[in-house]
Amino acid sequence: MAKLLVVATGNPGKLREMQAYLAGSGWELTLKPEELEIEETGETFAANACLKASQTAQATGNWAIADDSGLQVDALNGAPGVYSARYGKTDAERIARLLRELGNEVNRQAQFACAVAIARPDGAIALQSEGVCRGEILHAPRGHGGFGYDPIFYVPQKQLTFAEMSPELKRSISHRGRAFTALLPQLDTVLSPES
Ligand code: IMP
Repeated sequence: MAKLLVVATGNPGKLREMQAYLAGSGWELTLKPEELEIEETGETFAANACLKASQTAQATGNWAIADDSGLQVDALNGAPGVYSARYGKTDAERIARLLRELGNEVNRQAQFACAVAIARPDGAIALQSEGVCRGEILHAPRGHGGFGYDPIFYVPQKQLTFAEMSPELKRSISHRGRAFTALLPQLDTVLSPES
């Protein structure tokens, strides 16, 4: 019988993405209860992933998984970082603010980073991993896929923005994809049905 892993998000898109990464792992993923709200007070992606996983596990009495991610721009000293989601009200506003703050800066280097944490039913953190994807910030958006900052994040090796990639290609090179790839081999040992 599949064991339940509660995803510490209210976002069905994130649930679907995690299901794709964890397909075949023998775990059944489900969204956290809507009324459970968790404030992301951490100063790092790892701290936020841990607090979301931990609080969701404790509140539901199940194993829980959480991720936290964002964009770090070198010339902005790593901003917007953990504030990526709070940088504006909509994706368009967040992108406009970032492009305004970067202005004509020549150094467009940036990275997406993602931390993933899994907590036991008592809230103790059982596993953690991180992944990054380096790229460059364009001067204007390109492409219509994905979400968030995808249209301005260009990956030179693929000559495409995240928003121009197929979901499969994005998953294979993205910060979230890399964090989950690093997590998977450990998952079997820690999440065995008896534990
Ligand atoms: P969170 O991980 O749900 O807290 O979201 C962090 C924020 O970072 C999102 O709202 C997006 O603005 C941004 N972000 C994280 N991952 C991606 C991505 O793969 N593409 C575009 N934006 C992202």
